[in-house]
Amino acid sequence: MSAQIISGKSISDTIREEMRDEVDQLKQAGITPGLVVILVGEDPASQVYVRNKAKACEQLGYYSEVVRVPAETTQDELLELIKRYNEQANIHGILVQLPLPKHIEEKAIIDAIAVEKDVDGFHPESVGNLMIGDDALLPCTPSGVIELLKRTGNHPAGKHAVVIGRSNIVGKPVAMLLLRENATVTICHSRTPNIAELARQADILVVGVGVPKLVKKDWVKPGAVVIDVGVNRLPDGKLCGDVDYEDVLDVAGWITPVPGGVGPMTITMLMANTLKSAKRTQA
Ligand code: GUN
Repeated sequence: MSAQIISGKSISDTIREEMRDEVDQLKQAGITPGLVVILVGEDPASQVYVRNKAKACEQLGYYSEVVRVPAETTQDELLELIKRYNEQANIHGILVQLPLPKHIEEKAIIDAIAVEKDVDGFHPESVGNLMIGDDALLPCTPSGVIELLKRTGNHPAGKHAVVIGRSNIVGKPVAMLLLRENATVTICHSRTPNIAELARQADILVVGVGVPKLVKKDWVKPGAVVIDVGVNRLPDGKLCGDVDYEDVLDVAGWITPVPGGVGPMTITMLMANTLKSAKRTQA
């Protein structure tokens, strides 16, 4: 038996279609969702991401700005730019593409973004709201993972979810969201001695560590849902995830491919956050 493939592309298309009506209604009320994406320097991967975000805005009829500034931009200059967009009423979401050049302190930049425009969900107040279960703009990749689970009928409630990775962008927030959905959550990381054994207990296995093909078939319980958040570029130029897809395919019940799994969901959730933020400005 081969796993069912979870197409992030197709689920993402469905969600964007569902958002269309809401966007139209908001625009009729005089509010066009607006997103600014700020790119510092010329990192090639970041350029692709930023282009895709602008394309998604265009597809949904959002107002969007892409601000490209040189790698030599100072932290103060970047803070000034953020301040301007914090105050600009037609902008509902501010995203500063990471990573930033080394001379800029990431935390200072994230902290400077107005929490109501924090469509990445990286601001400490957004993270805190997620933690205590208050309304918050949720980080895009983790909320995309939850959507993939729910929309394939794999509801986390009562399941054992094992998360491999503890980054602020993926591991920690996805674990919190799974907990909020009433899963029992185990978080594994580089210092966990028996990862394969723990992973094998998972009904839902979420992997985001940046190690190509780390997860093999003996890490996976037969029938488990495997969500691969990794995006790694191999020496031959191809992309692969943190899961050895071919190896795991006939053990898992469900699996996300790379590319075409979690990736498309991230941008869709960014669009959803921008819409949510725009709606909140309605009187
Ligand atoms: N770089 C890689 N992923 C992300 C993301 O989700 N948000 C931002 N701002 N930068 C990133």
